[in-house]
Amino acid sequence: MTLDTHLLSALRETPTGISGTDLSGRLGISRAAVWARIEELRRLGYEIEATPHSGYRLVSAPDRLYADDLQARLGGARVVGRVIQVFEQTASTNDLVDRLGRDGSGEGVVVFAEAQTRGRGRLGRAWSSPVRAGLWFSILLRPELAPRAVTQVTVLGAVAIRRAIKKVTGVEVEIKWPNDLLIRGKKCGGILTELSAEPERVKYVVLGVGVNINQSLGDFPEELRSVATSLRLETGRAWDRGDLAVGAIGALDESYCRLRSGGFGALAEEWEAACTTLGRHVVIRIGDRRVGGRAEALDGDGALLVRTDHGHLEHVTGGDVTVQP
Ligand code: BTN
Repeated sequence: MTLDTHLLSALRETPTGISGTDLSGRLGISRAAVWARIEELRRLGYEIEATPHSGYRLVSAPDRLYADDLQARLGGARVVGRVIQVFEQTASTNDLVDRLGRDGSGEGVVVFAEAQTRGRGRLGRAWSSPVRAGLWFSILLRPELAPRAVTQVTVLGAVAIRRAIKKVTGVEVEIKWPNDLLIRGKKCGGILTELSAEPERVKYVVLGVGVNINQSLGDFPEELRSVATSLRLETGRAWDRGDLAVGAIGALDESYCRLRSGGFGALAEEWEAACTTLGRHVVIRIGDRRVGGRAEALDGDGALLVRTDHGHLEHVTGGDVTVQP
C-alpha cells in the first residue's frame, strides 16, 4: 500500500477529522511529511480542511479516478484490484492490458483510462469514451478455462456490473446476451472479452468494461443518441464515478472468485433472471450465417441455447443478436 492509500484510508475512516500527530504515528512519517502529502492531495483536487481543533478532515474528493484512493476505499487483499492503474488517456485499455498479459503480469490488474481515443466494442464497433464521463477499464484474468468456455467470463462481468450499478444507484439494468447492459432498452454499458489461448487452454483473458455514467445526450455521437443512454440521463442526476468504480471492482472480484471455485451455476442463474433475451424470438448474425429462433437458456459454458425455427437446439457462442418484437 502506498502512503497516499494509507493517508486516504485514515481520512475516510475518520470523517470528523484526524490530528497530524495521529496520522504521523499511523503512517510512520513526520508531521511535516504528512503535511507535504496533504498538500499534494489538495493539488490533485481533494478538499482537505485543517483546523487546530479537529486536525485534517476530508471534505470532498475530485471527479477523477486516483488509484491510491480506489485502493483505500476497497481495503484488503483480493484478486481483481490487486493492482490498479489509472491513465489520463489511452487508445484502448484492452490493448494496455493485453500487453500486460503478454508480458506475464499476474491476474487481477485493473487498468482505467479517463478517456479512450480508440475505445472499441464487440464486432469491431467503436466505443465512445469521452473524458471523465464514464468508466472505461480492463482487467487481466488467467482463469483455468477452455477457450470455448470464455463466454463465462463475459457473463460474470455483466452480472457483476449490473449488481454494482444496482447497489450504488438503485437502477435495475437488463442484460442482452451476451454483453449488453441496457436501461429501458437503451445501452448504458457493455463488456468486451478478448483472449489469448492455445487450442485447449486459455493463456489470459482481457475483460473490458464500459459504463456510461454522466454523459448528457450531446456527449454521444449523433448516430448513437437513439440507442445509447447514461445513468445520468436515466436518473436525472450525476453519479460519483469513484463509488461506481469501487462497487464494480468489489463485485467483479466476488464473482470471479466464485467462478474460480466452480460457482458458475449461481452466476448463470443471476444472469438468466436479468436477461431480456431469454424467452424471446431472436435473429443472430454469425458472420455470413443467420440463426433465427427462440432463446431458451444459457448453457454451462455461457453460450446461448436457441431453439431454431427448424426445431433443433443451436449452441451460440458469439454473434450479433437482434431481439424480435
Ligand atoms: C460492447 O458493448 O460492444 C463492448 C464495449 C466495451 C467497451 C470497453 S471500454 C474499456 C475497454 N476498452 C475498450 O476499448 N473497450 C472496452
